[in-house]
Amino acid sequence: MTLLPGLLDTEAIRKDFPILDRQVHDGQKLVYLDNAATSQKPRQVLDALNEYYERYNANVHRGVHVLAEEATALYEGARDKVASFINAPSRDEVIFTKNASESLNLVANMLGWADEPYRVDHETEIVITEMEHHSNIVPWQLLSQRTGAKLKWFGLTDDGRLDLSNIDEIITENTKIVSFVLVSNILGTVNPVEAIVRRAQEVGALVCIDASQAAPHMPLDVQSLQADFVAFTGHKMCGPTGIGVLWGRQELLEDLPPFLGGGEMIETVSMHSSTYAPAPHKFEAGTPPIAQAVGLGAAIDYLSSIGMDKILAHEHALTEYAVKRLSDVPDLRIIGPTTAEDRGAAISFTLGDIHPHDVGQVLDEQGIAVRVGHHCARPVCLRYGIPATTRASFYLYSTPAEIDALVEGLEHVRNFFG
Ligand code: ALA
Repeated sequence: MTLLPGLLDTEAIRKDFPILDRQVHDGQKLVYLDNAATSQKPRQVLDALNEYYERYNANVHRGVHVLAEEATALYEGARDKVASFINAPSRDEVIFTKNASESLNLVANMLGWADEPYRVDHETEIVITEMEHHSNIVPWQLLSQRTGAKLKWFGLTDDGRLDLSNIDEIITENTKIVSFVLVSNILGTVNPVEAIVRRAQEVGALVCIDASQAAPHMPLDVQSLQADFVAFTGHKMCGPTGIGVLWGRQELLEDLPPFLGGGEMIETVSMHSSTYAPAPHKFEAGTPPIAQAVGLGAAIDYLSSIGMDKILAHEHALTEYAVKRLSDVPDLRIIGPTTAEDRGAAISFTLGDIHPHDVGQVLDEQGIAVRVGHHCARPVCLRYGIPATTRASFYLYSTPAEIDALVEGLEHVRNFFG
């Protein structure tokens, strides 16, 4: 058994995740290394979901009966948990959405329909990066097409980091918003937030951070990030699918217009016009994802009981080990940083000229679950001249033995394809 400094007690943690005991393909032990796509859920979260539906299920903010009041308290309690998890100055800055994509689309649409000084129009610029997930590219392309705003982006260095050498030309006096990923889902790169935020603040641009691959893995403090918006999703951090978060600075949320209209987001409605509820409700039209928010609250309790700093240390040790072991596999090329510094626990690679889909399939036959493809970050594959990658990604329950299994599995892939 490989022991690394900083590892969590995975033997105890894994008991909380019933799915990790599964066998696949007639008796193969499951080695789940697709955590960047979605994490597994601990029993504590499964129980919270079950209990919510068994005891409290009702619509929120609407009824005067006991269940409605209890469901509302649970839903709003989940908002408190999120606010404290990300160190938000106010719980009213936490908007529940369906996922991080919806959160990012919400920001783009707020700005698209905003008045001055926030309005994005043909005289302004939007800045993103070449390592974004499609969910932080397409909403800005749509906004640019609709408004005539110019879309610009930071390119990538050969070793998978942001090329900030021309930061003053990319972020200019015309920049309205800079939206970038904190930890890349495909490269694993952890981006230098401070340098980007400093330049954005110099020119008075807003900053939006996609923290989907950060919130599950490290302490996240929206105040120290100094961004204006931070988006992430619940299902990658032990929560259920169908729940995302957008944190936004209170004064912005007060000023910016809603995107979706409907029940719950209004103050009054007449046949001629409507006025809106204060944030966050202004941005939560319709019945919200109530059970999912409760599940996310339970996930936050679970992660906090272990400690985000400990989870980060665990993943750092695993990543260091994995980078070292993978670097010894003949013909394997890591796409992204090849050291564990400023790097998250998602490692993409190619293996000679074996297509990643074939790599993934032969690994799957051995019970090893990885993701293959462009990982919704196709521009990264184009940048490095590859059609796709194989990606292994770790979480708090991942072990060195699973990395050993991956390396052995890759040997098998190489033998299989000669
Ligand atoms: N964004 C998720 C991933 O990177 C789905 O796999």
